[in-house]
Amino acid sequence: MFKTVIEPFRIKVVEQIRMTTPEQRTALLAQAGYNTFSLRSEDVMIDLLTDSGTGAMSAEQWAGIMRGDESYAGSPSFYRFQDSIRQVMGFEHVIPTHQGRAAERILFGVTCAECDVVPNNSHFDTTRANIEYRGATALDLPCAELADMSSDYPFKGNMDVEALRTAFATYGADRIPLVMLTVTNNSGGGQPVSMANAREVAAVCREFGKPLYLDACRIAENAYLIKQREPGYAEKSVREIVREMCDLAEGCTMSAKKDAIVNMGGFLATRDSELARQERVLLILTEGFPTYGGLSGRDLEALAIGMQEGVDEDYLNYRITSTHYVGRHLRENGVPLLWPTGGHAIYLDAKRFAAHIPPQRLPGVSIANALYHAGGVRACEIGTLMFGHPDPATGEETVAARELVRLAIPRRTYTQSHMDYVIEVVLKVWEERASLPGYRIVEQAHYLRHFSARLEPIGQSPTA
Ligand code: F0G
Repeated sequence: MFKTVIEPFRIKVVEQIRMTTPEQRTALLAQAGYNTFSLRSEDVMIDLLTDSGTGAMSAEQWAGIMRGDESYAGSPSFYRFQDSIRQVMGFEHVIPTHQGRAAERILFGVTCAECDVVPNNSHFDTTRANIEYRGATALDLPCAELADMSSDYPFKGNMDVEALRTAFATYGADRIPLVMLTVTNNSGGGQPVSMANAREVAAVCREFGKPLYLDACRIAENAYLIKQREPGYAEKSVREIVREMCDLAEGCTMSAKKDAIVNMGGFLATRDSELARQERVLLILTEGFPTYGGLSGRDLEALAIGMQEGVDEDYLNYRITSTHYVGRHLRENGVPLLWPTGGHAIYLDAKRFAAHIPPQRLPGVSIANALYHAGGVRACEIGTLMFGHPDPATGEETVAARELVRLAIPRRTYTQSHMDYVIEVVLKVWEERASLPGYRIVEQAHYLRHFSARLEPIGQSPTA
């Protein structure tokens, strides 16, 4: 067999990348307040800020866009969307939203009261914010194996099932409206959840009479990693594995901007008719009529097609292999990262990468800025800037459990030579790591501060 796994597509339309120099990027970084979210994308050469909505749609999806029917009610595009999701996931009620967080807001809007507690393997930041906005608590229960970033443990996205039992004992089932499993576990390093773990979590939910919901935005990648890593699944198809996981759950939220490979879109799904009725009421208030939600007919078409393409095994083989390729090369050169690699991103371990910068001084921010400066590669910190906050009494930063830098790989967008370039850029920053400066925050918002914060380097400039 050949060792190269080729991109299973060819390129029909190209988008120009604007080349910049390190000198230009010095000024651009300062203008952006040393926050990669504030850079203009034209000033970025390889954009690994997110894998969300940044994938390349297929010719079929673009053809679907032309077929989109924009009727206010009862559009055939809605029925194709609903059928496609039902076929892959098996959930009866499917409610379109403009993206994942709108689905979260509606789900928690109808299920969650003040003082409630929602356990999850790890909440994504918008999921957490939507729960906290309801006055409830978002409880992260990652498995203990996640703490060892370099071990070979294959399912570091798992939930700690004993901790889930303890949560039920501590808060009481009355305060826990539902349990969520995020597949793959994005905030926990894009690591997969095993079917065995999902089954155990579902069993605990059944025992306490509570529904299990999936945050399913990367369920196809999770399924492919199960096929590769979990005993008994090698011969099963990704479709069967996705379905088996959905069968354990009452419903899901989904940002279709990930594994359904669309630029915009999401949905809520459930088997519970009464809940769906309540959700549709909220949907009408802020998203739209139930047969389009927050989307246009053409978006529904692209999503319906992307949902099928996202579970294609040739595509997933290329996708997971490509992510692993980057991770393996970096690891072989000593770069500390979360291992084994998951589906959608490489997560550098900023605590070990820039060990001389304390978490309060944002080592992940420092690395992300250096990657941009060195090679025009845009990544994002997932650490204290994202999850910490200033202590109201002392003003000191409470620090995050992990300091990571995520290099998220858009779907079907970059080729292997782009990935080779990314490897070279990371290795250059790794070689020069001793000179990375710490950062302090000079401006921040109360919620989701990482999107808009302005920062400054402490001491020497990162880009002098
Ligand atoms: N859940 C998970 C696990 C996510 O990764 C995201 C988005 C969402 C929910 C929210 O979906 O953006 O469509 O509203 N993650 C993106 C990222 C933004 O970069 O990881 P959304």
